Amino acid sequence: DTVDQQADFDAVVSAEGRIEPRDWMPDAYRATLVRQIAQHAHSEIIGMQPEANWITRAPSLRRKAILMAKVQDEAGHGLYLYGAAETLDVDRGELLDKLHAGRQRYSSIFNYPTLTWADVGAIGWLVDGAAITNQVPLCRCSYGPYARAMVRICKEESFHQRQGYELLHALSHGTPAQHAMAQDAVDRWWWPSLMMFGPPDDESSHSEQSMAWRIKRHSNDELRQRFVDICVPQAESLGLALPDPDLRWNEERGTHDFGEIDWSEFQQVLRGNGPCNEQRLDQRRTAHENGAWVREAAAAHAAKHSARTSD
Ligand code: 3HC
Repeated sequence: DTVDQQADFDAVVSAEGRIEPRDWMPDAYRATLVRQIAQHAHSEIIGMQPEANWITRAPSLRRKAILMAKVQDEAGHGLYLYGAAETLDVDRGELLDKLHAGRQRYSSIFNYPTLTWADVGAIGWLVDGAAITNQVPLCRCSYGPYARAMVRICKEESFHQRQGYELLHALSHGTPAQHAMAQDAVDRWWWPSLMMFGPPDDESSHSEQSMAWRIKRHSNDELRQRFVDICVPQAESLGLALPDPDLRWNEERGTHDFGEIDWSEFQQVLRGNGPCNEQRLDQRRTAHENGAWVREAAAAHAAKHSARTSD
């Protein structure tokens, strides 16, 4: 009965075991996973837009090929994650409808514009870097399908981060105008990248329960701090400054102190008032409508195929 099922569930989670799709799980655990995995998948798909903006404008064939591969990877990450969400008895069409209706979220970071080519480097270095810092612990998430999807995604994410870093390094060590363009991009993407990790721990409504269920393995502030500590030496070798006058090494804490994040900006973006929220959802809805014929054709083909094989 449910008491035993809850006890079994708790035992598996506390023993760092895996909950699989056919296992009993509390409804709230299922709902939290659907919310987070759907949001994660939506982030990957919406995240294709800011970068795709530069595919036709890349400065060389090499950069264009790399960027195309990365944007294609993000689409694949979205598909893995919609697949992981579907193991929880939800349908990806339903999740996309919720995204299009503004009833499910995607990562705040993709509501900012990509104004210059250097933004492609800043996104790779900072946004994919933050995504890696957030996603590596998710490989140890208690829900099997999500944790396994993360293993493959993290491998591809490190290529994304590396290409962004290398792109910025080339610009930063190029002409003064190229260096200035790289610095401008870092200035614009640094603080929104810190916001990706979510609100401060004392304002995080889901963290406590999510950590008890071993979905979230480290708190928002812990991962944010880890990300800052990773970026400081990388910025030094890039020859670029991080736009935070309060950023300094704290010997006592063994980490960097850093300045106040503007959480009102974060809340505005979450409310849909970021620089690109409307544009991103409009483009997403249009892409979905334009793709309807492909979905219908694939479904018709599948129906014909299964009719043939069942004859
Ligand atoms: N963007 C949008 N919404 C956010 C957010 C963000 N960066 N951070 C938090 N929120 C929302 C939460 O969804 C929650 O909303 P709700 O109250 O409506 O449910 C609210 O703010 C409170 O935040 P919590 O910290 O309590 O929420 P979580 O426990 O879910 O933690 C999280 C937030 C750390 C982002 C967690 O959801 C998570 O780890 N998600 C998976 C990682 C993810 O989504 N990454 C996307 C990054 S982009 C990417 O991967 C593409 C890359 O390849 C370029």
